[in-house]
Amino acid sequence: MDNFTFYSPTKFVFGKGTESQAGQLVKAFGGTKVLIHYGGGSAVRSGLIDRVKDSLSKEDIPFMELSGVKPNPRSGLVYEGIDLCKANGIDFVLAVGGGSAIDSSKAIAAGVLYDGDFWDFYSGKASVQNALPVGTVLTIAAAGSEGSGDSVITKEEGMYKRGTGAEALRPKFSILNPGLTTTLPAYQTACGITDIMAHLYERYLTNTKDVEVTDRLLEALLITMKNEGPKVIKDPNDYQARANIMWAGTMAHTNSCGVGRSQDWNSHAIEHELSALYDCAHGAGLAVTMPAVFKYELGHDRARFEQAARRIWGYQTAEEGIEAFRKYLTSIGMPSTLGELGGKEEDIPVLVKNLCYGDGRNGTISGFVTLNEEDCTAIYKMML
Ligand code: NZQ
Ligand code: ZN
Repeated sequence: MDNFTFYSPTKFVFGKGTESQAGQLVKAFGGTKVLIHYGGGSAVRSGLIDRVKDSLSKEDIPFMELSGVKPNPRSGLVYEGIDLCKANGIDFVLAVGGGSAIDSSKAIAAGVLYDGDFWDFYSGKASVQNALPVGTVLTIAAAGSEGSGDSVITKEEGMYKRGTGAEALRPKFSILNPGLTTTLPAYQTACGITDIMAHLYERYLTNTKDVEVTDRLLEALLITMKNEGPKVIKDPNDYQARANIMWAGTMAHTNSCGVGRSQDWNSHAIEHELSALYDCAHGAGLAVTMPAVFKYELGHDRARFEQAARRIWGYQTAEEGIEAFRKYLTSIGMPSTLGELGGKEEDIPVLVKNLCYGDGRNGTISGFVTLNEEDCTAIYKMML
């Protein structure tokens, strides 16, 4: 196991009705004027935004709202949010929604305290040192942004989808009410399940030896997802299964099960080009990407894939394990080809160019294995 420092200061408040604590929590973390930042309307339709506003009003905390965050959140709204916060003395950003609302909130929070262009953090020109405090009310178990220091934003100009990470971006608190996820369409629920499993697999594919404790934690979470996922697809109102999935999603991405080991993240980098170009859901893109990447990376460390096959899926060979995962993903309604995402073979050179050279990259991406242009082309072709 490698040396590590692990700092995960987020206060998690889990369970039914917990959104009513939003106001008290903002106050406890020093917020005196709040920006409520959310998406395209699901949280309004469910009445959640009204409940959050009531909770802030009970604590006499003034607030403003900025809605319209799209899945695969864009830089344009981030600039708008930064200007709004600066002009109105806002000192706390409260995200209500999923990874997109949370990531956009984190970008705004960092941008407000930075003199330059916030995109510097995403293009690698600068790292986030400070940010306004962020709190979250989670409505979908998926990205894990409620417990992570990461944020992923798409820049409209060039459609580059890039991420940044910093301790300062970890939310001060996250409210996790699994009941809020029952209004999700089945497809979106499945996208979330896929993303959570991807976060576990990306950590599982390591070059670090003797990491039994984190291997076993990752396996436990993957097995949980394998068992609980189909339950919520069958019955969206299964609160207990929703609860298990929600906490697994948060645990998957706080990095508690990824410390002290190298990680992969090639599937994520390859997928981000798909959601940037086709504007598909991140989870759906991952469902198509992961089996191809795993098959391509298999030769690098067959024993690792065999261990996953045995311990998670109950098979012996690496290939059987990957195929069991692929079948599982299609059984919950996920796509398995580029065509299902709206992609075509002619797009591959663009995907590869953006992936390997876009926005300052040097021709390769690096994780479990290092992949160059040729490798990435072969992987995209495997998805056809
Ligand atoms: O916009 P609204 O109307 O709220 O609708 C959303 C959106 O259309 C809807 N939704 C969310 N909760 C709902 C609901 N609909 C009904 N009932 C509810 N309770 O679901 C759609 C997807 O929402 P989104 O926030 O985009 O989902 P997700 O949490 O999957 O976030 C995806 C984004 O997170 C990034 C992805 O790349 C993508 O941009 N990621 C962020 C990470 C991080 N910050 O650590 C890590 C991940 O790997 C990922 O890359
Ligand atoms: Zn992800």
